[in-house]
Amino acid sequence: MLEKGLGRVLLSQDQLQDIVARLGREITEEYKGSDKDLIVIGLLRGSFLFMADLVRQIKLPMTVDFLTVSSYGDETVSSGDVKVIMDLDETITDCDVLVVEDIIDTGNTFSKVIRMLKSRQPASLKICTLLNKPSRREVEIPIDFCGQNIPDEFVCGYGLDYAQQYRNVPYIGIYTDPLD
Ligand code: IMP
Ligand code: MG
Repeated sequence: MLEKGLGRVLLSQDQLQDIVARLGREITEEYKGSDKDLIVIGLLRGSFLFMADLVRQIKLPMTVDFLTVSSYGDETVSSGDVKVIMDLDETITDCDVLVVEDIIDTGNTFSKVIRMLKSRQPASLKICTLLNKPSRREVEIPIDFCGQNIPDEFVCGYGLDYAQQYRNVPYIGIYTDPLD
């Protein structure tokens, strides 16, 4: 039985687990020769479940930190504005930084986050996103590790919300307005 408001499953728990395991292997391979400190940064709130699963699949020493920015009200369309709600605790200068995002849609929010983080002069900065909606892109984002490209649908679950709901749903489903 699907949650009310979710029309169909896009990615099941098993599919998510396979995607996260593959990303963990790719990331481990990428950084295993580096002599820099690895810091993995999750963008809250959407990435919290993905981040928790992903870091356990990265077989390297690391620190984790979180950043909260906001771009949306309770809308399904991006406003294009970004505001830092909670900044990092750690200094990222001269570290290998991996930024972990739930979904890259227009890219407007994320491009501003990247610019801000780059200004702190990390040794390297790479991007990992669970989901990518390439058809919606307005700003080019160089994604280094991508879980899955998805069509232009609004998705919820596994950390992603609609009006702050559905984050605890263990799979990713397509949102369909119950009133439609
Ligand atoms: P962008 O700035 O348009 O790339 O928006 C990125 C942010 O919008 C993501 O981090 C999500 O929080 C949110 N977002 C975009 N598409 C979806 C979706 O399909 N479901 C849930 N959140 C989304
Ligand atoms: Mg987000």
